[in-house]
Amino acid sequence: MDEAWGPAVGLRTHWCGELRLEHAGARVEMCGWVARRREHGEHLAFVDLRDRTGIVQCVVDGSVDARAEQVLRVTGTVRRRPEGTANAHLATGEVEVGDCTVELLAGAEPPPFPVDARADDVDETIRLRYRYVDLRRERMQRNLRVRAAVNSAVRRAMERQGFVEVETPMLMPSTPEGAREFLVPSRQRPGSFYALPQSPQLFKQLLMVGGVDRYYQIARCLRDEDLRADRQYEFMQLDAEASFVTQEDVVGFISEAVLDATEAVTGERPAEIERMTWHESMDRYGVDKPDLRFGLELVELTPVFAATGFRAFQAPCVKGLRVPGLGAGITRGRLDALTERAKALGAKGLVWMRVGEAGALDSPVAKFLSAEEQAALVAAIGAEPGDLLLSVADEWAVACEVLGQLRNDLGRPPVHEGPYRYVWIVDFPMFVGRTEDGRPKPGHHPFTHPHPDDLDRLEPDPMGVRSQAYDLVLNGWELGSGSIRIHEPALQQRVFDLLGIDEEEANRRFGFFLTPFRYGAPPHGGFAFGLDRLVAILAGEENIREVIAFPKPQSGTDPMTGAPTAVDVAQLAELGLRVLPPKA
Ligand code: AMO
Ligand code: AMP
Repeated sequence: MDEAWGPAVGLRTHWCGELRLEHAGARVEMCGWVARRREHGEHLAFVDLRDRTGIVQCVVDGSVDARAEQVLRVTGTVRRRPEGTANAHLATGEVEVGDCTVELLAGAEPPPFPVDARADDVDETIRLRYRYVDLRRERMQRNLRVRAAVNSAVRRAMERQGFVEVETPMLMPSTPEGAREFLVPSRQRPGSFYALPQSPQLFKQLLMVGGVDRYYQIARCLRDEDLRADRQYEFMQLDAEASFVTQEDVVGFISEAVLDATEAVTGERPAEIERMTWHESMDRYGVDKPDLRFGLELVELTPVFAATGFRAFQAPCVKGLRVPGLGAGITRGRLDALTERAKALGAKGLVWMRVGEAGALDSPVAKFLSAEEQAALVAAIGAEPGDLLLSVADEWAVACEVLGQLRNDLGRPPVHEGPYRYVWIVDFPMFVGRTEDGRPKPGHHPFTHPHPDDLDRLEPDPMGVRSQAYDLVLNGWELGSGSIRIHEPALQQRVFDLLGIDEEEANRRFGFFLTPFRYGAPPHGGFAFGLDRLVAILAGEENIREVIAFPKPQSGTDPMTGAPTAVDVAQLAELGLRVLPPKA
């Protein structure tokens, strides 16, 4: 990442972190916080001064009344550190600033935790309550700069490709996009509510009807979901939409943006992003967001057990997972835990086998398998002595999903371990699962265009219809989603009919969105990816909170501001609201 600090002006002539041997002899003025102070007898004090660029050691003759995290302006002369006292861990470690005079700009209470890497172990609530102190740390400063570099690279990539930045409203009607919405009461029309946008989806499509042709926005989105490592109530998307384009075009535009961002942060451009169909991803990795940094692919074993006498394997699909080396020392307790995990994930059971010398299989179920089956299994899965083999028999989807999760449990490297393996997942099913009343549920959102080759099957076989939806995945994280949209009102109504939304209801709920399509809507499609997630991965952070200046902890309550807070009865009355007593 290019670190452009800009000129040191105002109260300073230099940044703390920029001083090197070449500055020796220069008279410098720096501003910053006291990272550390040490007295050497009565006549010498060392003050480590910190600003956003780093730390430099300042030497003060005589004692100095400097305490941790006070804000100082230090004036002195740069000099080479005395023989044997250079600090290799510090970028400025070969020099120090001598003959210093110190001006106190602001006092400071003792910080609630050490302002360095030790704070990583401090309770997160405390870090977030004093986020302004936490942010002084090198890790947080770097994360914010990674974030800025990603935003900037993405913006430039979209502009280079002819996209126009347009802002869309934050106050909008409630819409059927999937997540729970945040509502905002209207003062002028008590009893009526705005919704905050889950994404700019509907407005960006209307921008296409409006002839904007290529739109993008770094958009704030709000969703009232349970918070997790990769989820916040409010988060940022790179949101884009384009007219008269194919799926391939959209994939190309977005690939440019994420590859540029990756290069801007890491200095290296990953290879062109590969594509994989949803079916292949499920079949080989058991998930729709495969982490391609490691192997452990699922193996098809259905033919091996086509005629088996072992009841558990008499299923539509048998899948296997070979974990090299894990069979050797594994304990019974660990194997039981794996079986429990598989059951919790929805499997009827889990077969495990330890591979011994010459392919001998050590397993409680080995006795149920014929010698031919055992040999065919060893050959199909490529078993080697010491391996652990896991197998699940079930419907295809269940067998894949369960083993896919175990694959992640057993093999997934931590986020900071490279490389960056992007993959586009294409040809998602149009519908996934059914509602209680038997209606198919949309896989992406109800405005996604079915695959053109599958249009005839929409009514007779909806679950077999592919959509023109695509996801971008990075190292096992879903980075973003998009689709080619329906621009034909008649087709939109066919999809609504399948979802059980008749014309009257459609017009009532989102007529504002449907009517414009009668006024000349171009074919269009787009995409959005989560900037917080991309930044977290590029910064090597497991949790997006680490790359957001002021995030909410898992509880959703901000320990610093106290939000959400109660408001005056008078303020509520003005909005026509009254709070019910808490539910028992
Ligand atoms: P989708 O709902 O899949 O698609 O969201 C796109 C991406 O936004 C990010 N994201 C989140 N990040 C942090 N916290 C959250 N709560 C959160 N929710 C979503 C994810 C996700 O992949 N309008 C469509 C896109 C389109 O069709 O163009 C949409 O919003 O990285
Ligand atoms: P059971 O016949 O239910 O006693 O199961 C015998 C062994 O097969 C146990 O180790 C189960 O965990 C395992 N098992 C049962 N059903 C399945 C299944 N559908 N897929 C994989 N293993 C199974």
